[in-house]
Amino acid sequence: MSLLPISTVLFLFVFFSVPSSPFIAAADDLPTAYSLLQSYNFPVGILPKGIVSYDLDESTGKFHAYFNNSCSFALQGSYQLDYKSTISGLISENKITKLTGVKVKVLFLWLNIVEVTRNGDELEFSVGITSANFAIDEFYESPQCGCGFDCNSISENLGRNPFVSSV
Ligand SMILES: *[C@@H]1O[C@H](CO)[C@@H](O)[C@H](O)[C@H]1NC(C)=O
Repeated sequence: MSLLPISTVLFLFVFFSVPSSPFIAAADDLPTAYSLLQSYNFPVGILPKGIVSYDLDESTGKFHAYFNNSCSFALQGSYQLDYKSTISGLISENKITKLTGVKVKVLFLWLNIVEVTRNGDELEFSVGITSANFAIDEFYESPQCGCGFDCNSISENLGRNPFVSSV
């Protein structure tokens, strides 16, 4: 029995130790993070535009999604959201738990959104101490980093904040 040269051994080790189970996606022929959300029954609009890549372990639902930069915007002038450049969590049908990297400003506090649950035509966002429900049809489109849905106009509409009204 002869010994393999060390370089061959290293090559084989590196080659075969590349993990194959986590699903790494960035190319066009693979589902985008947005179509993947839909396959778990979530609307695309819970993620802003600009996800550049993601990974998902389909056996556990653990995912990471990546933006080039952090992303923040205000929706309808009523509340502010902030996404870090990396967000993670556990996704299953109708439920995202252990979410990290997403914050909402409630009054003067930034609170982490830790869970998102779909209940029929509503989405419930939980920040731990409280939660807020939104109609699913507010999420058919992804907002844009910086300007949300008001990218062509400056609108002031400081009426509504469901997080506050449900406290
Ligand atoms: C992210 O950064 C890369 C490299 O700078 C760039 O090519 C790409 O267009 C950026 N993507 C987004 C969505 O900003």
